[in-house]
Amino acid sequence: EAASKGGFDHFMIKEINEQPKGIKETLIRRLDENGKIKLDDIKLTKEDLEKINKVYIVACGTAYHAGLVGKYAIEKFAKIPVETDIASEFRYRDPFVDENTLLIVVSQSGETADTLAALKEARSKGARILAITNVVGSSIAREADDVFYTWAGPEVAVASTKAYTTQLVSLYMIALDFAIKKGTITEEVYRQTIKELEFASDKVQEIINNADKIEKIADSIKDAQNAFYLGRGLDYYIAMEGALKIKEISYMHAEAFAAGELKHGTIALIEENTPVIAIASQDYLFEKMISNMKEVKARGAFVIALAKEGNKEVEKVADKVIYIPEVSDILSSILTVVPLQILSYYVAVKRGCDVDKPRNLAKSVTVE
Ligand code: G6P
Repeated sequence: EAASKGGFDHFMIKEINEQPKGIKETLIRRLDENGKIKLDDIKLTKEDLEKINKVYIVACGTAYHAGLVGKYAIEKFAKIPVETDIASEFRYRDPFVDENTLLIVVSQSGETADTLAALKEARSKGARILAITNVVGSSIAREADDVFYTWAGPEVAVASTKAYTTQLVSLYMIALDFAIKKGTITEEVYRQTIKELEFASDKVQEIINNADKIEKIADSIKDAQNAFYLGRGLDYYIAMEGALKIKEISYMHAEAFAAGELKHGTIALIEENTPVIAIASQDYLFEKMISNMKEVKARGAFVIALAKEGNKEVEKVADKVIYIPEVSDILSSILTVVPLQILSYYVAVKRGCDVDKPRNLAKSVTVE
């Protein structure tokens, strides 16, 4: 087993380190010689896409969090309304699905029982099914009309890391492909965004290279009972994934909140030294996040901020800052999640937890 960890202490940190490769592979295997997206296993034509008036993205756990980012990307680029739902909810709530609906299921393993059941439910109502999965020939891949395989490689640690970032890349690519086919984005935006996706892998590597700084930050929160993750827009979805990660492997109670909702209840929970991880990667929401950080700081919180390089203003408010390389707001999710994975990892290690096999959890939940 030590050998398969490739010199790392745990599979999780090995898999965190494999993300630049996974992101790159997922992307470049789908680019043609002209740098355009070519999705071989997705047969949806321009005509098919014009018929689709609603998209559901359905998944569980971390894959569900990727689906939330997918909603953002598909609505922004392809201009189709998207609802992201938890598979175990979707399958029992008689969702509004017909033959003009596209169901996108996201599943690392391709075997999750609730996701598979949601797929079957939507199919029985006439929906077209597109699966994003990491496992070739998995049940979900076999049941779907169209498949997008992530190129994360086998993921062993129970807590998902590299599968998640490759799911994000997949969803961005699907959004861009739909958009260019439908004519809802310009060629220029299309090309520019693909170029940015190409740079994402190097930028993730830069973050990983600075893991020791994040490890130090982990020291300052490792004994906390509770932590709160705040974000707005896309950053809120990353906050949800960050909170899940730390709960899963370090057993620290953590919750994510849309930062604007704080004042409607959550702020009552902030006490002296409560860790608050504030994600502020969206330029158009930056000032709003600064105000939210000030609010919690004034109530004693220990604020760890995530911001884009150059946004130095954040240092005046936060106790610690983790900078991510410059990237457009829409693609920031691929970067912001990485420091949160690393932070969870080090908190779990310092708390003496079984990082790769946390209690009560399974890698793949194939029964309901
Ligand atoms: C389990 C795992 C999670 C995962 C979820 C969905 O609960 O512990 O890490 O996100 O299943 O799995 P899937 O294979 O469908 O992505």
